[in-house]
Amino acid sequence: MRHFLTLKDYSKEEILEIVDLGLEIKKDLKAGKYNKELEMQTLAMIFEKSSTRTRVSFETGMFQLGGHALFLSNRDIHLGRGEPVKDTARVISSMCNMVMIRTFKHSMIEEFASYSKVPVINGLTDSFHPIQLLADYMTIKEYGMEKNLVVAYVGDGNNMTNSWLMLSAKLGFELRIATPKGYEVDATVLQDAQKIAKESGAIIKVMNDPKEAVCNATVVTTDTWASMGQENEKEQRIKDFRGFMVDSDLMSLAKKSAKFLHCLPAYRGQEVSEELLENHAEIVFSEAENRLHAQKGLMVWLDKQRG
Ligand code: CP
Ligand code: NVA
Repeated sequence: MRHFLTLKDYSKEEILEIVDLGLEIKKDLKAGKYNKELEMQTLAMIFEKSSTRTRVSFETGMFQLGGHALFLSNRDIHLGRGEPVKDTARVISSMCNMVMIRTFKHSMIEEFASYSKVPVINGLTDSFHPIQLLADYMTIKEYGMEKNLVVAYVGDGNNMTNSWLMLSAKLGFELRIATPKGYEVDATVLQDAQKIAKESGAIIKVMNDPKEAVCNATVVTTDTWASMGQENEKEQRIKDFRGFMVDSDLMSLAKKSAKFLHCLPAYRGQEVSEELLENHAEIVFSEAENRLHAQKGLMVWLDKQRG
């Protein structure tokens, strides 16, 4: 049995297998064919933070696969009133077939997984957002951009950057990350990624200049300047991130054919300009839709791993 907590635990071959399975399932769905591979199975979804895409994609995905998803906010279950994580894990995993968790500390999901009898999926922690990267890479493949891929990430060193670091290190493409001073990526994750990159041939560069990062990139991406849980830092961050908005001027330094990705939700006029987002709306909203297909691929793949 496998959990899906970070991409660090997955090989290049496994990541590509999951993405390709998602693409196959997507093709079938578009042709009107439903694969009820998870018939009679239940997915518990524990949300300690807000979500639009993650909730809708997992709930819809599980239904399309013939199963059922339970939405459990921490306002509704005893976890939010102090029932220990290990007890919650033992109870839920005795009744459900898979668990997805969106929470704050990454250690919570690790503890949950260590007591769970069923696969646990990371639906976002303060440290990582690996399911988003499955959808992002699926989108990169669909747009035929996986060859000579150079990704420039401009913005906050957060759970998305950590996940891009792992994806680049595993798959072996070039990643440049530009953050303002004081908002750099996590040093331990960077070190881990650089170690893995030595084997895969990935080129990873971190810097404080957005222009340097974007120069000749084939994909440019960003994320909110204030992640969930950092709402009270928002005003300060808007000041500190001046000059880090991805707009048409910055994008003009990338390759002519370059595409823009955003995990969403987007804050127009902050990390991305209204104009740039709308110019790249087709790919950005395909990326969002791909959350559904990639996660169906992941759930079917995880189900196949149990004996
Ligand atoms: N990108 C993403 O995870 O979106 P939600 O927060 O809406 O789930
Ligand atoms: N970094 C953002 C991602 C949202 C999908 C957050 O954690 O809020």
